[in-house]
Amino acid sequence: MTVPDRNTFETAYAGQAPWDIGKPQKAFLDVADRITGSILDAGCGTGENALFFASRGHKVTGFDFLAEPIHRAKLKAAERGLTVNFLVMDALALSDLPEVFDTVIDSGLFHVFDDKDRRRYVEGLASILKPGGRLFLLCFSDEEPGTEGPRRVSRQELEEVFAVGWKVESIEPSRFKVRPDLKQRTFSPGGPKAWVVTISSEGLVRPQ
Ligand SMILES: C[S@@+](CC[C@H](N)C(=O)[O-])C[C@H]1O[C@@H](n2cnc3c(N)ncnc32)[C@H](O)[C@@H]1O
Repeated sequence: MTVPDRNTFETAYAGQAPWDIGKPQKAFLDVADRITGSILDAGCGTGENALFFASRGHKVTGFDFLAEPIHRAKLKAAERGLTVNFLVMDALALSDLPEVFDTVIDSGLFHVFDDKDRRRYVEGLASILKPGGRLFLLCFSDEEPGTEGPRRVSRQELEEVFAVGWKVESIEPSRFKVRPDLKQRTFSPGGPKAWVVTISSEGLVRPQ
């Protein structure tokens, strides 16, 4: 289980990326009624989760560090008559964003980082979430056997990286939905085991 580099993602988006299921992840449909206000979709890929929340009337920004998935996301938005501010941007430069959000959603981004970049990403999140804003994060769980796919994340790792200032409200078992046509994959029946994590920025101290 190696940490994927930019080239891994570029290769994946030369075709249909293995995680690109063409619809929102069910875990986000399940929490949709708890999601409020403006939304940032971090590492949005081709934008299905962002577009889903735009269809529910949210003001949504989605970003990915690759131009190809953002191009595809913009085409989908135009086809569906939806408005999302799709941007090419690196998640490790979040403090460059001139806007703050009520909610950040992360479907499969957090688990791509090594320990150092994970901490940098979390620091950046603190700068773009409004006080009392929430992060909804879906990542691979250490309960998923094997090594195929991204790095597994434990409850303890989640609690540690969000320990200072953040309030981890819940860490619940969930599943990633995967492309049904990729039959050779060896994930658990029902989809790779995941955590769906709700974290509030309520206690964060912000630099003046
Ligand atoms: C597993 S995919 C998930 C995509 C999408 N959220 C979904 O649920 O289909 C991870 C995404 O994060 C993007 N990504 C990886 N590292 C990134 C970074 N440093 N900044 C922004 N996006 C990144 C990849 O290009 C890819 O689209």
